[in-house]
Amino acid sequence: MTHPQRRRGGGGRGRGLATGGGGSAVRGRGSESGGGIKGGSKVLVAPHRHAGVFIAKSKGDALVTKNLVPGEIIYDEKRIFVQNEDRSTVEYRIWNPHRSKLAAAINIGVDNIWIKPGLKVLYLGASSGYSVSHVSDIVGHEGCVYAVEHSHICGSDLVNMTEKRTNVIPIIEDARHPAKYRMLVGMVDIILCDINQPDQATIIATNASYFLKPGGHFMITISANSIDSKLSAETVYQKEVEKLQMEELRPTEILPLDNCEGDHACVFGGYRLPRKQNS
Ligand SMILES: C[S@@+](CC[C@H](N)C(=O)[O-])C[C@H]1O[C@@H](n2cnc3c(N)ncnc32)[C@H](O)[C@@H]1O
Repeated sequence: MTHPQRRRGGGGRGRGLATGGGGSAVRGRGSESGGGIKGGSKVLVAPHRHAGVFIAKSKGDALVTKNLVPGEIIYDEKRIFVQNEDRSTVEYRIWNPHRSKLAAAINIGVDNIWIKPGLKVLYLGASSGYSVSHVSDIVGHEGCVYAVEHSHICGSDLVNMTEKRTNVIPIIEDARHPAKYRMLVGMVDIILCDINQPDQATIIATNASYFLKPGGHFMITISANSIDSKLSAETVYQKEVEKLQMEELRPTEILPLDNCEGDHACVFGGYRLPRKQNS
């Protein structure tokens, strides 16, 4: 059995800037609405080592993604505008790690998020589309995000978002029943599962059996309290990892998210990996 790597917060690796390959840093100005990066302040935007993710460096660093739909915001997220030499403008949206466990995992220093420009992603537990929108920025127009959400209330925001963000396909269904949406979803490179349900290991495994390419990857969030509030968080994480392993989902990295309220962790791994490939 392969033992996944376990990390605790603060690891510096994830915060490093990319050094080559992803383009050079560019200077811009903070958006009018400011926030963590103050309006009008000088900001340096540089590629993160995870393709499609960037870091805006001002007094404090912020994760950002390049807005797929310039001029549109999903929440009240702050934006940074960078002017190129040809005077065209690139717009970045700040990605708040307190609102998105995927962003928190990047900040903590996850080795690989497995999401890249051009890939196809199945996102279970899309909610109103906050994290989905940043994944949509990352995969870009060449990729797509199938976003599954069973709540009609959150789902209506999600559907509204996709009117302009055309690489997101909203699916208002229960992720327990992938047969209901199999006609809408193609084979995907990665499944992200953020649904906080006791049977979530089974849910992701069933979806993987329908849609995930062998050798593809997954990320699942674990909210220890939602799964079993009587056990310690560490025990819950371990039990969930064991359930995944029984389903051909091979966890390679577990990241407890210390900056989220409550006990949460993100688990990353591969699906039906060849024996020697751990990641
Ligand atoms: C923690 S929230 C997701 C937050 C979202 N991933 C983000 O970062 O913006 C969990 C979501 O999963 C949805 N959910 C829970 N069980 C589900 C199921 N069986 N099928 C589809 N969605 C589900 C909930 O309605 C809720 O919107």
